[in-house]
Amino acid sequence: MTLPTPPEHLETTGARFAAEPTDQEAAAHVRQMFDTIAPTYDRLNHLLSIGLDRWWWTRAARAFGPLLARPEARIVDLCCGTGDMTSALLRLRPSTPGTSPVTGVDFSPEMLSRARSKHARANATFVEADALHLPFADSSVDLITAAFGFRNLANYEEGLAELHRVLRPGGQLGILEANQPGGLLGLGYNLYFRGILPRLGGLLSRAPAAYRYLPASVGRFPRPPRMLELLRASGFRDASWTSYTFGVTGLFRATK
Ligand SMILES: C[S@@+](CC[C@H](N)C(=O)[O-])C[C@H]1O[C@@H](n2cnc3c(N)ncnc32)[C@H](O)[C@@H]1O
Repeated sequence: MTLPTPPEHLETTGARFAAEPTDQEAAAHVRQMFDTIAPTYDRLNHLLSIGLDRWWWTRAARAFGPLLARPEARIVDLCCGTGDMTSALLRLRPSTPGTSPVTGVDFSPEMLSRARSKHARANATFVEADALHLPFADSSVDLITAAFGFRNLANYEEGLAELHRVLRPGGQLGILEANQPGGLLGLGYNLYFRGILPRLGGLLSRAPAAYRYLPASVGRFPRPPRMLELLRASGFRDASWTSYTFGVTGLFRATK
């Protein structure tokens, strides 16, 4: 599969490349890419993040500890992939009978099938759907998380509008995303992220386009101040960003 290389300086409203005329086409590319890398996704994720991914998921889940402790709370893990963020959320759910399950949502059948087998005995359900068209009623969800997935949405404004629609008033949003750190550390990190990671990932997954897409999509994703503006413009309040691991990753939080 060949993915067009995006012009990185462009202000974008989503992961759609100029060569992809519609959001649907962009979404189909992303879905196909994740279906292709699903068999090696978990192993490569841990390797390429030198194991920090587990800490990031755990830390992001803990940020919503009090909400997760409420048995009746309706929790959705968007862009759940193989379900590692889902697992971090589940570890903070009560074990009492009747506790509402965590719902993982993803549009890649291959990623979802791995999530289902990893969570066969967990209090979780998995649903195949596009994040831009969620199969949930208005104002019906207490918490939506999205770990390393929101960046891939074809249209960020539409994505935020959809998340705002399904969250209850007072509901919480947590978007964990990769970031481009600045300064000297940023220079060094960029060497790794743009030079070594795409080569290593491409070699081990045998899907080089997917691992070229990763740094390109992070480069195009709005920097935290711009993303906070987008969150506020979409109707969220108390929008904040917390840097993880010197800004390599960070958690956006907001309330409907
Ligand atoms: C980088 S993976 C992250 C998976 C998981 N959350 C994690 O932290 O490992 C991104 C996931 O987002 C999913 N995804 C991307 N765009 C999506 C969309 N529009 N709707 C639903 N899922 C989407 C992909 O299929 C993929 O499984």
